[in-house]
Formats: sequence, C-alpha cells, structure tokens
Amino acid sequence: MRKPLIAGNWKMNKTLEQAEELVQDLIQRLQGIDQVEIAICPPAVNLAGISNLVKDTNLRLGAQNMYWEESGAYTGEISAPMLKTVGVNYVIIGHSERREYFAETDQEVNRKVKAAFKAALRPIVCVGETLAEREQGQTRDKVREQVKAGLAGLTPEQLVELVIAYEPIWAIGTGKTASAEEANQVIAYIRRIVRSGFGASADLMRIQYGGSVKPDNIVELMTQPEIDGALVGGASLDPDSFTSIVRGAL
Ligand code: PGA
Repeated sequence: MRKPLIAGNWKMNKTLEQAEELVQDLIQRLQGIDQVEIAICPPAVNLAGISNLVKDTNLRLGAQNMYWEESGAYTGEISAPMLKTVGVNYVIIGHSERREYFAETDQEVNRKVKAAFKAALRPIVCVGETLAEREQGQTRDKVREQVKAGLAGLTPEQLVELVIAYEPIWAIGTGKTASAEEANQVIAYIRRIVRSGFGASADLMRIQYGGSVKPDNIVELMTQPEIDGALVGGASLDPDSFTSIVRGAL
C-alpha cells in the first residue's frame, strides 16, 4: 500500500515570523493524523527555524530546490547536505516554475535528484505539460521525456523513496484542474513508464497530482486509484484549506 503524501509548496511566501505562526497552527490542527504523510516546504531561509518546531510532530519538512554540488564557489546556491543537516526530509526538484523562470533542464533535474539521494533526502520530482503541448496531444510524450531523463541512472531501491508530482502547467495557480480521471490516466501512464525502466518498484513509488488542488477537489482526486496525494501551492498557505485538504485525503 502506498501512503498518500500531501505536501504544501509555499513557494516564495511567508517571512520567518509568518511561517512560524502558520506551522504552529498546522501542528495543532493536524496532530495525530498518520494515515497520510504531511510535508510543508517553506522558503529555504525559514527551514532551520521551522525544523525546530516540527521536530517530534507528524509534519515532515521539504525544501523547494537545491544545487547538485556539495559545496564550493556557487554563490547563492544551497546543497543537499546543508538541507539534510537542518532536518529537511524532502526536496522538490524540477518544479515547472524552476524550469520556466530559471531554465532548469531535465539533465539538471537528474543531477539534483542523484545529489539529493546521496545526502539521504527524498526528491519530489515535478513533471507536466504546457497548455499548448496538451492541445497538440503531446502530454504523454512530454511527461515520458521528463520522467526518463529525470530518473536516469537511479536504482530500483531509490525509486521506492522517490515521489513524482504530475503537475499540468496550465493548472498551476490558475484555478483550473485536470479532471480527476484525466489526472489518473496520466499518472497511470507515468507509472507504466517507470515500470518499464525500474520494474515492480514503480508500484511502490508515490505519484502525486498538483495544480489548483483545493478542499473542494481533493476528495475526488483521492478516489482515483493511481493518485497518491497532492502537491499543493496556493491552498497550502491557508491553515483552514491545507487542513481540509489533508483531511480530504484520509
Ligand atoms: P497551485 O500550485 O496549487 O497554487 O496551483 C501547485 C504547485 O505549483 O505545486
């Protein structure tokens, strides 16, 4: 059985004080839930402070990005061992905003994924098609390419620890969601691709849906057999809606 993962991607939101307030609220509201794994991914500068708050709670901590080198002259970058030592468990890699605004390639995603594993972090690898690609019937080609290149060279054991987030780009922050059935079909396809490269590990690996996940669509998404949770952007910034989403996934 795959345990669903609901992860909140806060993106570039919340000062340390605001972040701590939200986390303290979430700790109270989400206390005792263990049928679903819950992670929050605040901005990097807040990770160390929040790590102290979530220690010994059911909230896991995720970063939104990292660099693949361990240390050195890479001004402005943060390495996987640095994240690990402040108590980070997960790291989002290859989010469409990183790909679009910071020109991240599938090859860079792959280097980051390998570096994350080396530091015992669990990557959440994001894939998904643009609206134009979807309209031209290229959704499967796009995600196949991203999955194959992003996961190249991993072992089946690592695969089990990895999470994929299928996020159609046109659904991110737009209020539009893929229908639960459509999302399920693409996710089933992604699992087949992974199975063809890595065998049965694919059935243990979690694949989330992301893109305008809200309290009013999470239940339907979670009834789909292939959808193992959600990567939540905007709605993860509000304690009411994030709590409802977690509860909707139970
Ligand atoms: P959204 O973002 O929920 O605000 O659409 C999802 C994401 O970018 O991970």
